[in-house]
Amino acid sequence: MLHGKRILLIVAGGIAAFKSLELIRRLRERGASVRCVLTDAGAKFVTPLSLQALSEDKVYGDMFSLTDESEMGHIQLSRDADLLVVAPATANILARMAGGLADDLAATVLLATDKPVLAAPAMNVRMWTHAATVANVETLKKRGVTFIGPNDGAMACNEHGPGRMSEPEEIVAAIEAMLVRERPLKGKRALVTSGPTREALDPVRYISNHSSGKQGHAIAAALAELGAEVTLVSGPVSVPDPRGVKVARVESADQMLAACLAAGSIDVAVCAAAVADWKAANPAAGKIKKKAGAAPPALELAPNPDILATLAKRGPKRPALVVGFAAETDNLVANAVDKRTRKGCDWIVANDVSPATGTFGGDRNTVHLVTSRGVESWPPLGKTDVATRLAARVALHFAEAGKAAAAE
Ligand code: CTP
Repeated sequence: MLHGKRILLIVAGGIAAFKSLELIRRLRERGASVRCVLTDAGAKFVTPLSLQALSEDKVYGDMFSLTDESEMGHIQLSRDADLLVVAPATANILARMAGGLADDLAATVLLATDKPVLAAPAMNVRMWTHAATVANVETLKKRGVTFIGPNDGAMACNEHGPGRMSEPEEIVAAIEAMLVRERPLKGKRALVTSGPTREALDPVRYISNHSSGKQGHAIAAALAELGAEVTLVSGPVSVPDPRGVKVARVESADQMLAACLAAGSIDVAVCAAAVADWKAANPAAGKIKKKAGAAPPALELAPNPDILATLAKRGPKRPALVVGFAAETDNLVANAVDKRTRKGCDWIVANDVSPATGTFGGDRNTVHLVTSRGVESWPPLGKTDVATRLAARVALHFAEAGKAAAAE
């Protein structure tokens, strides 16, 4: 809930401005007060009157209006909020923010504020992927602006791709994640697997893969950030342990499974580890020696336990939400939909790991979230952003499940 929280909502000029009306309604429903700043371009899409009616507060637009300045200076306006939300955040306002302009009230307030800022971009796909916008977003992120979205999908301009503003409920979840001390996942226990596994051939050799653990570790951190009590079961990685997370270090898939089962009762399990599918059937107790003239040793493999499927099919001990990853190079979505059924999990985060994407070991990830409701494609995001978004979705899932249970 957002009781007592004050949101300053900056509505810029984009077709998605209509969603801001729903955003105000939802924020107020959750106890927040909302005050709006409407840019001139924004006023071409929604009227001050609609914003005023929904927010039940004055709508600010013109920096040079003396009445506004005497009643509420722009500095005061920016300080009198717990959070500034820019929705829709157009390419233009992002550029003005990145450039430090103060050419209207919205830009001035954003420049003057000492409060956190959340931006929900909405624009044509080409504008979003333009190098100028990409650079502006990077700059703003470095300065601490938090981003939610944009989502992928059909757009008002008849194009398809990333550029749609996040849905109001996603923005509300992101706002709660930023503001609510009473974290939405407080009281929930989460288990995350991360990194590769190493399957010993002998005491000095092993089979493994290129997983860096960056994505799994970021998910553990994001869930902890939302208040979950997180156990991270990690294979050998060089990324640092996330703060506020209990870490169990393992080597092999068998050890990873044992550590997962030892974690006790779990509400949400996210299996992001790249578990080796096979291990040596008979690992040698001592180092395998080369013998002059002899053929190389044959490698007999045995299957490893499937940790995700084991957790998802655990009967009464099954976590309420089980999330798997599908690393694919071809037929990404079809394979992921199939994998969701085969493994018995609730969600699959499908990621394209074809070499050109640089996903393995890199910092970015292009994912599709497969749930019982269908497939949602996310734009290419940093691994931290994927983690934040996934954690927000987990929080939303439990909030909805709680509401449904209360209604019964
Ligand atoms: N996984 C697991 N234990 C295994 C293998 C995989 O927990 N032994 C989990 C991964 O953490 C991931 C999901 O299962 O969440 C997908 O694994 P993946 O290896 O991509 O799928 P497979 O079932 O092995 O299918 P394929 O090899 O055909 O892609």
